[in-house]
Amino acid sequence: MKNAIKKAVFPVAGMGTRFLPATKANPKEMLPVVDKPLIQYAVEEALAAGIEVLVFITGSNKRAIEDHFDKAYELENELELRGKTETLKLIQNIIPPHVTCVHIRQAEALGLGHAVGRAKAVIGDEAFAVILADDLIDDQASGCLSQMVQVFKEWQCSVLGVERIDPTETQSYGIVRSNSIGNNLGRVEEIVEKPKPEKAPSNLAVVGRYILTPKIFDKLDLVTPGAGGEIQLTDAIALLLKEQAVLSYEFSGKRYDCGSKLGYLIATVEQGLQHEELKEEFKAYLQGLILE
Ligand code: G1P
Repeated sequence: MKNAIKKAVFPVAGMGTRFLPATKANPKEMLPVVDKPLIQYAVEEALAAGIEVLVFITGSNKRAIEDHFDKAYELENELELRGKTETLKLIQNIIPPHVTCVHIRQAEALGLGHAVGRAKAVIGDEAFAVILADDLIDDQASGCLSQMVQVFKEWQCSVLGVERIDPTETQSYGIVRSNSIGNNLGRVEEIVEKPKPEKAPSNLAVVGRYILTPKIFDKLDLVTPGAGGEIQLTDAIALLLKEQAVLSYEFSGKRYDCGSKLGYLIATVEQGLQHEELKEEFKAYLQGLILE
C-alpha cells in the first residue's frame, strides 16, 4: 500500500430535501457559508491534506459543482477587463494546476455505500479518503483530513473521523464501539448505522471523514440495502473490520452539521465571525441584536 493518500471521493448526489426549496434547482453542496460553497470547504480541506485527485460522485441537478471547479472563461475575461485582479484570483485559484477533478454520475441514488462504490475504477488499488461536504470541519491548525492522513501514515489501515455526540442523536449517525489505543485513537470493534439510542453501542459517531483501504470495494459488493433501505458505507466497514484493522480517530477541530438547518446557521454565524472582511461589523451587529 502506498504511504500517502492522493485521492478523495466526494459523494454529492444526495437530493438535499432538508433544504428545499433552496435545493430545488441547486445542489445542497453549493449552499454558501458566508462566501464559499460547502463543497469548496471540503475540497480545500482535501487539498491541504495533499490530495491530488478529486472524485465527485454526482447526480442530476449537480452540474453547478462541475462548473464551480472548472475554468469560467467569460467571468474571468470580464473581471480582467475591469481590472478586478483580486477577485479574479479568488476564482482562478480554487484548484491548483497539479490537481485533477473527475466527475462520475451515479445514475440511481441508492445510498452512500453505492456512491462510494462508483469510484472503484478511478481509485484502483490504493487507500483513499471520503469526505462528506455536509460536515464542515474547521481546524485552523491543520485540517481534519490532514490529521487523519498522519494517522494513516503511521498505522497503514482504514481510519474513521469520529466525535462524541449527544446520546439522543445516535439515529443520525454511524456509531462505533472502539477500544482505546491512546492518543484519541481506538480500534473499532463494532459499527452500526443509525441505531436507536437504546441499541447504540456508544455515543461515538462517525462524521463525514473516512480513510479507507481499497478492500472496501469488495465489501461494498457484498452489502445489501440496510438502514433506510440504502446501501450503507457503514455496513461495508462492518465487514471490513472483520478482516483488517479499522481505527477511529477523535480529530481536533469544530464540526458543523450543515446537513441540518440549525447546524448550517451556526456555521454561517461562526464563520462570519472569523471572516477577515466582516468579523468586526458582524460582531457588533450580533451584540446589538442580543442587547435589543
Ligand atoms: C452518513 C453516514 C453516517 C455518518 C454521517 C455523517 O449519513 O451514513 O454513517 O455518521 O453521514 O454525517 P447521512 O448524514 O448521509 O444520513
